[in-house]
Amino acid sequence: MSRGLYIQLFSIHGLVRSENMEMGRDADTGGQIKYVVELGKSLGRHPAVRQVDLFTRLIADKGISVDYSNPIEQVDEKFRIVRIQCGGRKYMRKELLWPHLDEFVDKTLIFIKREGSIPDVFHGHYADAGYVAMQLSEFFGTPFVFTGHSLGRSKRQKLINEGMSEDDVVKKYRIDRRIDTEEKIMEMADLVITSTSQEVEKQYGMYHNRTIPDYSIIPPGLDLEKFSPFYHGMLPENRKDEMEKHAYVSVLNELNRFFIFPEKPLILALCRPDKRKNIAGLIRAYGESLELQAMANLAIFAGIRKWISDMEENEKDVLTEMLLLMDAYDLYGKMAIPKKHDFEYEVPELYHITGERRGVFVNVALTEPFGLTLLEASACGIPMVATNDGGPRDIVENCKNGVLVDPSDTAAIAVEIKKIITEPERWDKYSRNGAVNVRKHYTWEAHVEKYTSALKKLLKGTTREEFSPLSANPVGKRITGLNYFLVTDIDNTLIGDDNSGLPGLIEILKEHRDSMGFALATGRTVDSALKYIKKYDIPAPDIVISSVGSEIYYGDAKFYDKGWDTHISHRWERDRIREILDRADFLEIQEEETQRKYKISYFMEPGRDRQTRAHELLLAAKLKYNLIYSHNQFLDILPYRASKGKAIRYISYKWDIPMDNILVCGDSGNDEEMLRGDMPAVVVGNYSEELEKLRGLRKIYFAERAGAGGITEGINYYDFLNRKN
Ligand code: GLC
Ligand code: MG
Repeated sequence: MSRGLYIQLFSIHGLVRSENMEMGRDADTGGQIKYVVELGKSLGRHPAVRQVDLFTRLIADKGISVDYSNPIEQVDEKFRIVRIQCGGRKYMRKELLWPHLDEFVDKTLIFIKREGSIPDVFHGHYADAGYVAMQLSEFFGTPFVFTGHSLGRSKRQKLINEGMSEDDVVKKYRIDRRIDTEEKIMEMADLVITSTSQEVEKQYGMYHNRTIPDYSIIPPGLDLEKFSPFYHGMLPENRKDEMEKHAYVSVLNELNRFFIFPEKPLILALCRPDKRKNIAGLIRAYGESLELQAMANLAIFAGIRKWISDMEENEKDVLTEMLLLMDAYDLYGKMAIPKKHDFEYEVPELYHITGERRGVFVNVALTEPFGLTLLEASACGIPMVATNDGGPRDIVENCKNGVLVDPSDTAAIAVEIKKIITEPERWDKYSRNGAVNVRKHYTWEAHVEKYTSALKKLLKGTTREEFSPLSANPVGKRITGLNYFLVTDIDNTLIGDDNSGLPGLIEILKEHRDSMGFALATGRTVDSALKYIKKYDIPAPDIVISSVGSEIYYGDAKFYDKGWDTHISHRWERDRIREILDRADFLEIQEEETQRKYKISYFMEPGRDRQTRAHELLLAAKLKYNLIYSHNQFLDILPYRASKGKAIRYISYKWDIPMDNILVCGDSGNDEEMLRGDMPAVVVGNYSEELEKLRGLRKIYFAERAGAGGITEGINYYDFLNRKN
């Protein structure tokens, strides 16, 4: 820790670079991109941080800047953007990236190995990168932080409300995959960071696993340079900047033409013409209070318009209602409804003018998740009256710069505005608090300050189990010397109904023994595995990954991998799991000899609802685990860090065997995880249908022949023997 934190951020989709970000170029290149880059830059400047790397996808595609194909972009002294290739080099929308994320994980493993430095934390942004960071965190036993940016359940809800069919939502947005991943992420994350408390309640609140993670609400930093406090002597004649001076005068003229008494305090609203913003509520509040009309003018900047009749339905309705209410309450001479304003220069000046007139900024939207304009206005020193909801609640709590109201209570809205206008001390206090506290709480400096202390708290007490050093015995020496490996499942892959290919494969194993290692990855126990292959005269393996990846042995099972044992033991509560699942009537415990230190096995009839039940029982008890169902009858519960695939990656890492030189072979669902990713893989001809979904992925070869014959076919397909020589 004394060396400082090493943080790895992940944000995979969209176009990510440090300068001239192409905001809004497509749906995947938006606010999140800006967020992660700003976060990286600010973390890089923090003294507690030693290094920060932002991992994203490498893209080399015509029509897209070459910047995105640079594998390492050194942004600042301590901040790099690292680009990792997955699913080819063409630009792809985020929904299509799911099948390629395992490749991203594996390539990042290789990167970390090469750099020789394991981070203190993996932080994933959005579900796709969350998946990647989660896998890496399980692998290294390093904490995992997640930021959703947006979540699948609320998106699905929104699309369905907008009239899209459930089917289309799933097809177009792969929303099921996303939601499943998000549930899993919430189960595994050590910390979830959100921008507002509303996100925690309304968005994460829609998930089964909502109560599992710890949440930390840290608002993002804002670019507040333009939003200087109005009282910084900024009268137009003192302005140096010509553009600002010009903007000030032009806003002033625009406003004044509406008012009989322009110098009165100004009640200002600035928002999109959207029903949710409740502009009508504010006009009613003002229209119903003659007292308020006497003391202040009202200005509503509701976007830019030319012909209301040409606008889309929602906007048209809002603007029409605005005009009708203005007329009904006869607000001519007191209410301004400008048709346009420019954002770059005029909006800050509008706030400055409101400040000079000792006005109030009002946002009484029906719901308000964040409230950017509230923050901008407050930064300029304008007191606020806002909806008692998500974003404004956080703002008032942090800044003490105004009051919250019920947006449906027009009388209350009027009363609160009046109080601020008529009580100068209150006005001054809110004004000052806003200008000071927005700067304190809503900058990236403030963000990373909170971020690093949240991390330190998280890391306190966690010591990473370093992988044990290579042993010096002959077995260790042999494995260290090997650079190529054949790893295979046993049942129905190496040995099955059709063993005609076995003698040929045995020949290959014997002939290449000096240069190619041989490993088994099986659901069987180590003893049963060895006994079984002996019956078929198969050479002794160098490595046995047994009991579904929960144990690793070397040299004909003489040496047990203690490092793996320690690594997967984290948060494993064997007795509690047994206690809970033994009581479930849909599970039947397997024979005693299949139960292992890190594996609990049952028989279970097929059915997705049964699997869901099993998950629910374990999650309710806040347990961490990995559940694997296979062959329509076996249910295995392992530590969350254990699986055949993770065990192989661990071996690759520990013994320095490049993943590209490990050929993995399997036939069924419990092999899926080891087949996916960056290792060349073979699915034997007699595979079970659950592997059909791997077809078409790169580095997955579907053999014609069954069993060992299929393995040999795969060896030839990859030209594995020649490549190795
Ligand atoms: C083997 C094991 C059994 C396990 C199954 C699936 O058959 O003996 O305990 O449930 O593989 O992994
Ligand atoms: Mg099998």
